[in-house]
Amino acid sequence: MTTGTSAAEATMDASALEAVFDAAVAADERIEPRDWMPDAYRATLVRQIAQHAHSEIIGMQPEANWITRAPSLRRKAILMAKVQDEAGHGLYLYSAAETLGTSRDELLDKLHAGRQKYSSIFNYPTLTWADVGAIGWLVDGAAITNQVPLCRCSYGPYARAMVRICKEESFHQRQGYEALLALSQGTPEQHAMAQDAVDRWWWPSLMMFGPPDDESSHSAQSMAWKIKRHSNDELRQRFVDIAAPQAEALGLTLPDPDLRWNEERGHYDFGAIDWTEFWEVLKGNGPCNEQRLSKRRQAHEDGAWVREAAAAYAGKHGEAQR
Ligand SMILES: [Fe+2]
Ligand SMILES: [Fe+2]
Repeated sequence: MTTGTSAAEATMDASALEAVFDAAVAADERIEPRDWMPDAYRATLVRQIAQHAHSEIIGMQPEANWITRAPSLRRKAILMAKVQDEAGHGLYLYSAAETLGTSRDELLDKLHAGRQKYSSIFNYPTLTWADVGAIGWLVDGAAITNQVPLCRCSYGPYARAMVRICKEESFHQRQGYEALLALSQGTPEQHAMAQDAVDRWWWPSLMMFGPPDDESSHSAQSMAWKIKRHSNDELRQRFVDIAAPQAEALGLTLPDPDLRWNEERGHYDFGAIDWTEFWEVLKGNGPCNEQRLSKRRQAHEDGAWVREAAAAYAGKHGEAQR
């Protein structure tokens, strides 16, 4: 779409502007920061991008928990790179939200005050080293399934941020799979540890796609605006279809007695999800909600001197301060 508010746009009334916007979305054109957009479209994007950015940085915590105890130097180096990638993903996404006129400070304040959410998956604990493998395989795998279609999202800055994020998520998924494979093929104790991690992470991973379509309040509008390209249930099915044969290759079992290939549908059938657990975790009653938020607030406070020093440095050099 056009960049910058043109003279023609400046004289258009609201319905004419909306018609230009609708036509651009219908033609699969990208909406750019200076284009006119409906207030609700902007608000939806800010909410979604903020939640996504928060998930990236909160998601650093459960895995960072294992950096000092990684079983080898190689595993430690890989895990450090992955956790740093997640910080980078947070930065790209906060920057994308800034193009919509919302500052990073404002979004972080909302996260710290508990007024904006992050993915419920990060409120579960990482009890053993195998959890790092299970998170990479299942959690990053579910994230990729969700995020690849976002590379075609109608809002330009978000779509472009997702291209690089998805490439890095693929590396995360592979490292998790490879770590689990090593454990699964290791000693009986290691195999049992891998199985236990998969047993605990499978269902929360399926919940990452959000509530079923008929209970998802924002889905229909987001799809009409081409922010979302597929429904929650459609993406969840796609993920199950990919993960089920991978579990077999790993020599691990997914904890669902109802999971089986359905020849007629051409998809795997799977059991009912415990949505009560999902809503409880979302409400703040998951095993680690409090710990994650208090650690995040502490990290923000501990970093205050860095922000002050950066602002002072920028001021000294006559650069615009953020
Ligand atoms: Fe990420
Ligand atoms: Fe990741």
